[in-house]
Amino acid sequence: MQWEQLWLKFKKNLNYADKDFFRVIYQRSEGRLFDSGVRELMRAAEEMFEIAAIVKVSTEKEQGMVYQQSGNHSLEEEQGIVLQLTDDLSLGEEGYEITIEENQLIINAPSAKGILYGAFHIIRQANQGKPLMDLPRRSIPSNKYRMLNHWDDFGGNIERGYSGKSFFFKDRKVLMSERLIDYARIMASIGINQVVLNNVNTREGASELITKKYLPKLREVADIFEEYGIQLFLSINYAASMDVGGLETADPLDEEVITWWQERAKEIYQYLPNFGGFLVKADSEGRPGPFTYGRDHSEGANMLARALKPHGGVVIWRCFVYNCRQDWRDTKTDRARAAYDNFMPLDGMFDDNVILQIKNGPVDFQVREPVSPLFGGLRNTNQILEVQIAQEYTGQQIDLCYLVPMWKEVLDFRTYCKEEQDTVADLVSGRTFGNLECGMAAVANTGNDPNWTGHDLAAANLYGFGRLAWDTTLSSEDIAREWARQTYHLEVRLEDTLLEMLMVSWEIYENYTSPLGIGWMVNVGHHYGPNVDGYEYDVWGTYHRANHLEIGVDRTSKGTGQTQQYQPPNSALYEEIETCPQELLLFFHRVPYSYRLKSGKTLLQHIYDTHFQGVEEVEEMMRKWESLKEAVCPVVYQRVKERFERQLENSKNWRDVINTYFYRKTMIPDEKGRAIHG
Ligand code: GCU
Repeated sequence: MQWEQLWLKFKKNLNYADKDFFRVIYQRSEGRLFDSGVRELMRAAEEMFEIAAIVKVSTEKEQGMVYQQSGNHSLEEEQGIVLQLTDDLSLGEEGYEITIEENQLIINAPSAKGILYGAFHIIRQANQGKPLMDLPRRSIPSNKYRMLNHWDDFGGNIERGYSGKSFFFKDRKVLMSERLIDYARIMASIGINQVVLNNVNTREGASELITKKYLPKLREVADIFEEYGIQLFLSINYAASMDVGGLETADPLDEEVITWWQERAKEIYQYLPNFGGFLVKADSEGRPGPFTYGRDHSEGANMLARALKPHGGVVIWRCFVYNCRQDWRDTKTDRARAAYDNFMPLDGMFDDNVILQIKNGPVDFQVREPVSPLFGGLRNTNQILEVQIAQEYTGQQIDLCYLVPMWKEVLDFRTYCKEEQDTVADLVSGRTFGNLECGMAAVANTGNDPNWTGHDLAAANLYGFGRLAWDTTLSSEDIAREWARQTYHLEVRLEDTLLEMLMVSWEIYENYTSPLGIGWMVNVGHHYGPNVDGYEYDVWGTYHRANHLEIGVDRTSKGTGQTQQYQPPNSALYEEIETCPQELLLFFHRVPYSYRLKSGKTLLQHIYDTHFQGVEEVEEMMRKWESLKEAVCPVVYQRVKERFERQLENSKNWRDVINTYFYRKTMIPDEKGRAIHG
């Protein structure tokens, strides 16, 4: 096989104490999802325990007969795993409960989807070598939407893809392959239930995906996905009525436009009866949108939502709307304000099948940003949190950067929009304001590389997103351990080493790149490697405005006022330099290099120190990886080692460019007298 199985690659474990449960599988209902659950259990039994599981299928009617004959059926039946529907509706549409009765492990769920997730839970437990007796528990997903956004272009490239080409599209064709089945299995195993197949930038003819030309092929994809409980979504071009439909306008209030979308929706659902809906990037980075026609985003989104409504579809509307052509002399415009300024006035104006998708921070997936103030601001709008698994600004799957700790910080952030249940996790689960359509989405990091994610260890981010979206209370460390154990099956001491590497990797990346929340400072366009003034002089400007005395954008009420988009007490906390969290200092404040941080160091010395330290920390991570040499397969070992070599180069480059830049600006030397190049 040309691709690997990630965490579903099982290791033989013939001494596993609970393996006999896998001998018989009792399937108490029929249907595609039940079949998938059984198939996955059988595969795991075969590969882990060399057990050819026997499947006993009994419909509800037949079960009735069994009861009549035996009185107590469970005594008569052999040890095994039972998959059965329950009428316990408190488990919701996707939850399940695992119980043990006599010698049977029973997955109870009100829906077949819940059964499938329960089966994967048992497999996860067994694959970690943990006892099945520990399993009995209820599990209900934290979020209704647990979605991947693929930025795959129709031609086969992936925007911000660092793991090869698309396995969904090639040369403007929809691909069908065995890999698609493995993709669906692997994603379902971590609870992913929705997938947007194509890039939000609908290039290369992708606007046509919603036409008859491609819908039959998409039906085949949807069929594969549905066997694993995954609903298909598509990104659309807001101006498709012109681009594809030949109309002269995309004005959302135009009757012809409205009718065109209604007809389109009807046709889509003829081919794809379970279609999820549209993801829309409108009026953003050159994409068309309702602004062209003097309409606002609620008018644009609602028009599409009304076309989908009769078929049960939703519109996911992105809030990534900002002026990407800011003039550097204009110090009033602040990109960090834009999403809030554009969408807050529309709170409550969106139809109930519209969901706003909000990036975790106010700018754009930087290594460190505050949480978007739209979280806690919006009260009457469905919301999805968008994070980026693809490491666009965090090392591009060359550098190791385990992102789950970042996402945890976002989810745990208290917005103070209510006295309790006010965290981002509360908001996007719908707990805070009772929204029904909400959850989490992530820009995926997959491609057709054999290991799916370019860097083998970047699979921890993919795994972690799914697990966290299912259960936002899991810790970053527990997720990392689960992933590591299923993927590498190391002895505990070595597993600890791998975990140590993952857990500090985000901070290390931050240390040697851009300091204290300033962000950017990357090469323009591709976003890898340092270029301190790159975006300072680019037409897509984002600014740090460093001179020889100070650096940073004043976002307090004396500056752009962005701090005031937060609820108190966060607004006050960010407003004052003394209370602003240090890691966000330069995001919110303009600070002289001589400013003393809590550590007693000057800002400048802090920048020097973290950059020297970052490189040393990468060297330490490399040593740790080398200590795993005998324990991981040589191909993986070598692949990761090569990535670390590139990371080391990158970190040195960052250290030297950043330190030189600030040295030359200030002419203040490093207190420790280390060599600063240039
Ligand atoms: C970033 C990224 C783009 C992407 C955009 C988006 O700006 O660099 O490639 O299209 O985000 O989220 O739409």
